[in-house]
Amino acid sequence: MNIILMGPPGAGKGTQADLIKASFPIPHISTGDIFREAVSNETKLGREAKKYMDSGKLVPDAVTIGIVQERLMQADCQNGFMLDGFPRTTVQAEALADVLTKMGKKLEAAFNISVPDDILIARMSGRVSCNKCKTVYNTRFNPSIKEGICDKCGGNLIHRDDDNEETVKNRLNVYNDQTKPLMQYYGEHGILHDINGNRDTNTVFNEIKAILGSI
Ligand code: AP5
Ligand code: MG
Repeated sequence: MNIILMGPPGAGKGTQADLIKASFPIPHISTGDIFREAVSNETKLGREAKKYMDSGKLVPDAVTIGIVQERLMQADCQNGFMLDGFPRTTVQAEALADVLTKMGKKLEAAFNISVPDDILIARMSGRVSCNKCKTVYNTRFNPSIKEGICDKCGGNLIHRDDDNEETVKNRLNVYNDQTKPLMQYYGEHGILHDINGNRDTNTVFNEIKAILGSI
């Protein structure tokens, strides 16, 4: 099963990816997580990516496409994969189509999770994630049992640097300008599923799960 999760910042892509993984054993490839890992390890990629992430801009296509291509070639993607936060531009979508054609694969579903802007802003201001296992929580909507501590692994829960008000505003603008047009692209390819993400997490997941069960 080869799928992509799309939607604005804070829509619940990562949250749904965790639930999907538990039911369908396919690797979760989040470009945002890859960049954050590189930033925390202070690699060359991390230093480059941070310049863009801190202001809410997209990391240049050439950098991002190379990383995803390499990741998709790895053995664990042979039986399927779930992309989260990629593609985000038309150039990325076309590069993905090319690489999949070369690999003899095709995308089966693109989920467009939508949520009104005011809810997205509230979600991002309350988001915390585990510094070890990356599980995402929300201090308001989905708190951990013990404040600041991950229920799953005991790691520390931290706020993302790009969840400040100014950067969130920029990320939403970038999404509307550069990523939203991709919905038409995947609609024309007949694989787009519009999902109302403004419902509780399990209701959203059950709708996605039913679609995945039918492909
Ligand atoms: P990335 O990490 O992909 O961030 P994003 O797209 O802005 O999305 P988020 O991770 O913020 O939100 P999400 O949809 O995963 O929501 P979540 O599940 O956490 O990218 C970060 C940066 O990296 C970009 O700005 C860019 O610079 C760079 N980058 C990444 N990919 C790139 C690419 N392809 N090209 C170029 N640059 C790239 O949920 C949010 C909160 O809401 C959580 O607290 C959660 O608990 C809560 N929540 C989730 N679902 C629900 C629900 N149903 N009800 C109530 N609360 C909920
Ligand atoms: Mg995410």
